[in-house]
Amino acid sequence: MSTIDFPRNFLWGAATASYQIEGATKEGGRGPSIWDTFSKTPGNVKNGDTGDVACNSYHLYEEDIKLLKELGVSSYRFSVAWPRIFPHGDGELNQQGLDYYHRLVDELIANNIEPMCTLYHWDLPQALQDRGGWENRETIDAFDEYAKTIFRSFKGKIKKWITINEPWCASFLSNYLGIHAPGYKDLQLATTIGHHLLLAHGRAVQSLRKIDDSAEIGYAPNAGWAQAYSTSEEDQEAVRRANGWHIEWFMDPVFKGEYPPFLVKWFKEQEGVTVPIQEGDMEVISSRIDFMGINYYTGNVARYEEGNGLFHIENLDFNYDRTDIGWPVYPEGFYQLLLYIKNQYGDVPIYITENGACYNDGVTNGKVEDHKRVSYMKIHIANVNRAIQSGVNIKGYMAWSLLDNFEWAEGYDMRFGLVHIDFQTLKRTKKDSYFWYKDLIEKTNYHL
Ligand code: NOJ
Repeated sequence: MSTIDFPRNFLWGAATASYQIEGATKEGGRGPSIWDTFSKTPGNVKNGDTGDVACNSYHLYEEDIKLLKELGVSSYRFSVAWPRIFPHGDGELNQQGLDYYHRLVDELIANNIEPMCTLYHWDLPQALQDRGGWENRETIDAFDEYAKTIFRSFKGKIKKWITINEPWCASFLSNYLGIHAPGYKDLQLATTIGHHLLLAHGRAVQSLRKIDDSAEIGYAPNAGWAQAYSTSEEDQEAVRRANGWHIEWFMDPVFKGEYPPFLVKWFKEQEGVTVPIQEGDMEVISSRIDFMGINYYTGNVARYEEGNGLFHIENLDFNYDRTDIGWPVYPEGFYQLLLYIKNQYGDVPIYITENGACYNDGVTNGKVEDHKRVSYMKIHIANVNRAIQSGVNIKGYMAWSLLDNFEWAEGYDMRFGLVHIDFQTLKRTKKDSYFWYKDLIEKTNYHL
């Protein structure tokens, strides 16, 4: 592949998350999280899989950092498991948990890999869930205490922070669609939780400013892209609602200090659902951030269909190529989304904090020939490049994921890694996509 012209200092990276890779859920003083509870409840996760062992990165992190080093990335996005730091959610601090992440971060820095740390990638301490979880505003205080503890402890070592990963998933997918932990199906509850997650984000942003003004902070909303099938008003409006829910619902409050009014109205009129905003909330939520993370995987063409779902919309199947998890490959949506964000929210620096594909190729003769993942990455990275050429301020790209891992409700069958994991032996095998990405980084990484 010819050299792509990316900006100097463009940050190439790879991403993971604590519950998906660490294992060792009962070691080092860690308390249980909602994902331990959820995955152990029959029927929630395919094959009854849990994160108990996962990739065992808690013990094998040095091996994983060697993989990152050889890959040539300048950045590694990982997350801290809150219940390793506060096993009961708040109160007593578990020093062993902090020590683990110091070993990890020190090893990254020693290898010239910049840590990008996510504070909340869904492993809420179960003890807090027992007190109402994110529905209870006290969880926001607990999160702020946890964030402050981490900020103080890692001041000077970690320069890039992400507060909340995919607030849409942590609220609506988990509490309205019931697919992720804690598994509720209640739209009002999910809406309240979404608001509280945004508040937790804003509080952590404000805390970081007081503790370490030289570090940068953002969050990582997920965003798909729906493209309207026609210019008819009905199709346009249906698509506007769908994109509004996936994109603006978690971006307008942060950048504009309000929820998108047309959707607030829709929720109220159609579903009787309201956002429990208290005085001062929107100021906290819209605290200035330094960058925004974007997680993008898929999109599709869609049109109005009376009675279909919350927003009367139907996703059309144009015989898309689909990844093995069933998501349409829709790179044009990536480009459209990035342009849309620039148009809506201005020149905020953007890191692609996740992008990648699920293909479940196995190991044959010591090799994993995952050419479909390579094609997916090529076309999506090309669209990132196209967005940069169109003036979008994109600073980096993190591949999801370094390793095959615990894919939440899908368990271990769905593989997103550049590195294959044999979940029986925990053997790591570099896939062809790993070598392809390594080559790309070598040819485009001007990071000194
Ligand atoms: C987004 C999530 O942040 C990550 O945890 C998940 O594995 C990927 N999407 C793939 O579904």
